[in-house]
Amino acid sequence: MTLGQLKTFVEVARAGSIRGAAAALVVTEPSVSAAVGALSRELAVDLLERDGRGIRLTAAGEELAHYAAEILGLADRARRAAREAAGGPPTLRLVAATTAGEYVLPPILARFRERHPEIDISLEVGNRALVMEQLVVRQADLAVGGRPPSADVRGEAFLDNMLVVVSRPDHPLGARRAVDPSLLAGETWLVREPGSGTRETSEEFLAGHGITPRTLMTVGSNGAIKQAAAVGLGITLLSEHAVAEELAGERLVSLRVRGTPVRRSWYALYMDSTRLPRAAASFLEFLRSAEARRAVARAAGVPAT
Ligand code: PGA
Repeated sequence: MTLGQLKTFVEVARAGSIRGAAAALVVTEPSVSAAVGALSRELAVDLLERDGRGIRLTAAGEELAHYAAEILGLADRARRAAREAAGGPPTLRLVAATTAGEYVLPPILARFRERHPEIDISLEVGNRALVMEQLVVRQADLAVGGRPPSADVRGEAFLDNMLVVVSRPDHPLGARRAVDPSLLAGETWLVREPGSGTRETSEEFLAGHGITPRTLMTVGSNGAIKQAAAVGLGITLLSEHAVAEELAGERLVSLRVRGTPVRRSWYALYMDSTRLPRAAASFLEFLRSAEARRAVARAAGVPAT
């Protein structure tokens, strides 16, 4: 079993076809088939089976694909650790849920970089499935997201995440000192794409107040939702970190809805905090600091928590 064969197999699992994997790896289809065949012979099990006109992974193939991704992630970590031990630049591989990647991490990273200009940092931003996958397969050292750790990963809250209902500035309910949530049932609610933590929180909020919105409109990015809300397409529940600039510039207003702000946290997520690469351990330490909280607050123009 070689790393090359495992890499090929992971790509077959991702692409769902030999052809797709060959295209992604920029190799020929026979070479992909040969790698899969070699793994299958070595393990003496079938890894792929026919599925209509295509292929799918057998149960054995699914198991192997999961471990293969983890082995490749660990191999990358081993390479980085060895290079660092020999005097190479320390590396930090981060992955973040969209809102955290867009609004929370940039100010924190700016401060962290001032202290550690030597660290080579990369940040991937995506949905929760990507965040969890990157962490579990060790492609990312640390993740930041808005939902608490699950059975597979550990983590800790490091910052408050307040979500507020926002609307266009001249919304009729904008002037009210207190808005009963039931008054919002007739509104069009703009919600993020399925799989986003913000959407989950919105759904929990609506269900918790017994609100079935007249219209629920899915809009797949914070930026697009804010634009849509600002021009009066609907109202939305978003992290204060995501709307701070628009609230300050009065392009959006926050409605004083009972039960809001919805109080959540931003979490640092990891597989095993005792075995983090050195740069990741210092970044985790920095996330826990008051300086990190102040950096986010300053960028958002809100009080530090
Ligand atoms: P989201 O992430 O931007 O994907 O919604 C934030 C969260 O997980 O709450």
